Amino acid sequence: MTPHTTKTVRKAVVPAAGLGTRFLPATKATPKEMLPVVDKPAIQYVVEEASAAGLDDVLMVTGRHKRAIEDHFDQASELERALEAKGDLARLDAVRSASALARIHHIRQGDPLGLGHAVLCARSHVGDEPFAVLLGDDLIDERETLLKDMLDVRTRHGGSVIALMEVDPAQIHLYGCAAVAPGEQDGVVRVTGLVEKPAADAAPSNYAVIGRYVLDPQVFDVLERTEPGRGGEIQLTDAIEELAAKGEVRGVVFRGRRYDTGDKADYLRTVVRLACDRPDLGPEFRTWLKEFVSTLDLDLDLNPEGGRFAA
Ligand code: UTP
Repeated sequence: MTPHTTKTVRKAVVPAAGLGTRFLPATKATPKEMLPVVDKPAIQYVVEEASAAGLDDVLMVTGRHKRAIEDHFDQASELERALEAKGDLARLDAVRSASALARIHHIRQGDPLGLGHAVLCARSHVGDEPFAVLLGDDLIDERETLLKDMLDVRTRHGGSVIALMEVDPAQIHLYGCAAVAPGEQDGVVRVTGLVEKPAADAAPSNYAVIGRYVLDPQVFDVLERTEPGRGGEIQLTDAIEELAAKGEVRGVVFRGRRYDTGDKADYLRTVVRLACDRPDLGPEFRTWLKEFVSTLDLDLDLNPEGGRFAA
């Protein structure tokens, strides 16, 4: 294994410059990472996760809609003064919480040339340090310890660490997929190869790569020379594949609660689940939801064509 830097991980990079085409038209003028999940934008959950894992320096890689993300993590003096004047301290806290999570920086990815390119844009900020990458539309439940577990694996073994989740083989074409060999500890595997979005019959496993990475800074040198791959995009998977071929990548197998907000159906499931879990909204919302679900069968019997409002 190439000797790795022993520096601890302090910085997180959150790529949020994709086009979000699966969520159009909502994402025409708003980044998908800013879509509300109950009452916070998706990206705030991600920054909260980084902060909870001890990463106090967060770099957002933004695209066309830079402004909304910047504003959300900035102070909002006028709004804060108005809430203060009304004595609305709970909302004042909620407004302030985003900007207090970490030192937040922004960098622009001119054209969305791919996730690998977005990560490469972070090079000047990250420098020669290992760093975490958290995708801004991929949420891990706050009760899980995935990122901390990945940071522990990096501390013990060096190299790079990716997060893997077993999926139905019929779904593997939607993800990067890892070829794996047994690792030194429970729940950790050695990654021997990676393929971006393989067809089910060409997939080396059903281990899907999900949106958390702890990367050695040598990934930047690899990304500098990574050619566009699948979909004409510079793929992070292709760069990590090169590190995996040298035996420098481990995978932490995640079996916990994860919510994808980049896809319409998954987004809806996420909002419903998280609303049910909220102590302030959950009890009332669950009661309504149960009632609503019981009417669905009825609707279908009356109207086999589908929706409540179908003609
Ligand atoms: P996705 O492939 O899910 O994002 O990228 P997308 O391209 O925005 O989505 P669709 O498929 O068109 O709906 C995963 C993550 O990488 C970021 C995205 O913002 C998302 O968080 N990304 C992707 C970038 O920052 N830059 C890119 O060039 C591509």
